Amino acid sequence: MENIKAIIFDAYGTLFDVNSAAEKCKNKIGDKWESFANYWRTTQLEYTWLRSLMGNHKDFWQITKDSLDKSLKKYEIDTSMRDELLNLYKILLPFKEVPETLKNLKEKNYRLAILSNGTPSLIKELVKNNKLNNLFDDLFSIEQVKIYKPNFKVYDIPIKKYNIKKKEVAFLSSNTWDISGAGNYGYKTIWVNRNKNIFDNLDYKPEYEIKDLSELLSIF
Ligand code: LAC
Repeated sequence: MENIKAIIFDAYGTLFDVNSAAEKCKNKIGDKWESFANYWRTTQLEYTWLRSLMGNHKDFWQITKDSLDKSLKKYEIDTSMRDELLNLYKILLPFKEVPETLKNLKEKNYRLAILSNGTPSLIKELVKNNKLNNLFDDLFSIEQVKIYKPNFKVYDIPIKKYNIKKKEVAFLSSNTWDISGAGNYGYKTIWVNRNKNIFDNLDYKPEYEIKDLSELLSIF
């Protein structure tokens, strides 16, 4: 990829494994843990979109709790699991290739940043706990604009900070809808398709599709 001045990453599902919280409780939750984890994630995202459309913002940590409460009810999981799951959500693990790949990109002198729905403190802690803090130039949160992805105001945040052109950003996400939003906005995009998903029909297709971040080293 030519003329890229910043490589910007989505956080949840792209760098950090959102299912790792429920997976750590699979002995207590049982076989339904994965279906429960997916439902929690889907509900959480739906709440971000609904709150943005309604103009009734609450931060991502509140939304994570609200969506968890609905999911615990739906899957008839005891509410005594609530605090454990929430605490694990704060210390999600990165996918295994993430630290090494980021290190290699940084060594190539790319400006690296996160642009996430997460609150500034959630993202800061995740990055710090996983010893990735020296690799990022910025951790951008939608809390600056108080509306969720894929609103264009979110993708505007790094453009304003760096004073660069939209097409000088390479944006990575595993979420198809985030890639559609970022591409529609004008970023160059790389879809991290970890689970053989099908891309959206929203008038946009990503520049690149990769299985995991290690493939980035042949793109940059
Ligand atoms: C984020 C969610 C969308 O980190 O994954 O913004």
